[in-house]
Amino acid sequence: MILPIVAYGDPVLRKVGVEITKDYPHLEKLLDDMFETMEKSKGVGLAAPQVNKAIRLFIIDSTRMYDEGEKNEGIRQVFINAKMLEETGNEWAYEEGCLSIPNIRAEVFREKKIRIQYLDHDFKKHEKIFTGLTARVIQHEYDHIEGKLFIDHLQPLKRTLLKGRLEKISKGKVDVEYKMKFPKL
Ligand code: NI
Repeated sequence: MILPIVAYGDPVLRKVGVEITKDYPHLEKLLDDMFETMEKSKGVGLAAPQVNKAIRLFIIDSTRMYDEGEKNEGIRQVFINAKMLEETGNEWAYEEGCLSIPNIRAEVFREKKIRIQYLDHDFKKHEKIFTGLTARVIQHEYDHIEGKLFIDHLQPLKRTLLKGRLEKISKGKVDVEYKMKFPKL
């Protein structure tokens, strides 16, 4: 089932997600729905707050970001109760977008390498290092479960310039091809 994606301006996007346990209601169905929703909207990641659930859960599919033949560089994976342990290396710029903030893209600087702890789909604990584009997507999705958005990383002037467009998005005045839930519609 495709879930509506919560648009910018909804308070759920600003909540710090809570941890979940194995008996979280209908978790399997939620994960299926999130993968389906991410694929239909051509996203490379989706966090639970974006489908109106303030919990520490996100999924990513960075395989789409790599060319044919390099697909194994990416990962398609569930992250539950993730905890960022370390971000290191030089900051590099990459143009990010977000399904909750359609049609706006901006360069964001983030560190190159991360060390993260998380539970997988079976609630098995992992601690792993990721780099490059995969790290980038994880950092973006991790921000979501901390109540942060990529636009928070921009210079104040740049953010001010986007204000009008962001306000329009929250009112549903945006051209978008996937199902959304607008807070001020
Ligand atoms: Ni996003």
